[in-house]
Amino acid sequence: MRTELCDLFGIDVPIFAFSHCRDVVAAVTNAGGLGVLGALAFSPEQLELELKWIDDNVDGKPYGVDTVMPMSYAGKDEGLGKSDSETGEVDASVFQKMIPEETKKWIESVLEEYEVPPLPDEVSGVDSGVGGGSTGLLGWTDGGGRNHVDVALRHPGVKLLVNALGPPPKDIIDLAHEHGVKVAALTGAVEHAQRQKQAGVDIIVAQGTEAGGHTGEIGSMVLIPDIVDAVAPTPVLGAGGIASGRQAAAAMALGASGVWTGSVWLTVSEADVSPLVKEKLFSARPRDAVRSRSLSGKPARLLRTGWTEAWEREDCPGALPMPLQYMACSEAQTRIGLAARKKGAKARELVGMPVGQVVGRMTQEMSSADVIYQFIDEFVETTDRLQRSLDAADAT
Ligand SMILES: Cc1cc2nc3c(=O)[nH]c(=O)nc-3n(C[C@H](O)[C@H](O)[C@H](O)COP(=O)(O)O)c2cc1C
Repeated sequence: MRTELCDLFGIDVPIFAFSHCRDVVAAVTNAGGLGVLGALAFSPEQLELELKWIDDNVDGKPYGVDTVMPMSYAGKDEGLGKSDSETGEVDASVFQKMIPEETKKWIESVLEEYEVPPLPDEVSGVDSGVGGGSTGLLGWTDGGGRNHVDVALRHPGVKLLVNALGPPPKDIIDLAHEHGVKVAALTGAVEHAQRQKQAGVDIIVAQGTEAGGHTGEIGSMVLIPDIVDAVAPTPVLGAGGIASGRQAAAAMALGASGVWTGSVWLTVSEADVSPLVKEKLFSARPRDAVRSRSLSGKPARLLRTGWTEAWEREDCPGALPMPLQYMACSEAQTRIGLAARKKGAKARELVGMPVGQVVGRMTQEMSSADVIYQFIDEFVETTDRLQRSLDAADAT
């Protein structure tokens, strides 16, 4: 499975793993792949602690950090979402004022329907466990993303900076390069991949619509070769619907230099995903991973739940633009998470998380290392099988 990316990063296999969980990141890196920590839900201080922990647990091996600096969000053109030059804080209150009362009332009506009680005083402002934070602004603005980059570049183990929802700003790419850090960016469209290459991105992640999280409309089978051809010789990681060695072999047959994976790490033993959500993921089928604006305002593939269904209903006022949608729902998510702890609670029907169509293959808990070893075994079997068909053709 060796490609040029193995030499570039000093890794054994070109399997890149996105996870919000530091234990998964470290486990993948230790098993010979490259773990990448999603920074979105962490404050800069918390991210510092997470990266310090990873440094202490990977014995000098490389890992990455993923930030979200979107090309577009509400108020970006008016200069909102920047960090204060002295405190580094991003003002969430201006965004909070932009959330319509109608949306707040409608969210409350859904919570009532599912018998979700108000927040107890003692947990007001506490994170829901899906990364809510007290305001729900997360790292979804330019300023939040920049704060994450500042922290990431202080850690010499960080060898890859990845950005979702567009290329990172040019000065960030230059800064990463000055630190000897490679830059990757996710995309679901050929034109965006070309723009990322022009901006100086070193590795393009071609992510098909099958993927969990924010995703476009084109399937991996079509997208990967189109992007490989459009940006050559820039290396491409194939993403979206890859959870096995056979799928990795397919992506690499399409021209990818490795694979970028997300969903498959949600059900590994190291993942800090709740037992309720893991159970839901184990029994879900591919069609249960639906594209919905209910998480962030931009289309993202999520596990179908009462929550995603509610946002499709006729009485729904419609999702808000990023970052307002997550902010509008952040407290609701905390309340749902707390209410769902009770066995038999109706609120359990609302609990879900982003996941891709490969969820149908995620049927049992395994360690991250075993997932990597299974990828490698199946990749070898697949390429052997293809080689045998070539040998058979030669023999006739
Ligand atoms: C739970 C979850 C959260 C995600 N959050 C982010 C994120 O914050 N930043 C990002 O670049 N990609 C995010 N993604 C997308 C992944 O980086 C990756 O592109 C995707 O999972 C690949 O497709 P797969 O899910 O079929 O493996 C997320 C994916 C999942 C499943």
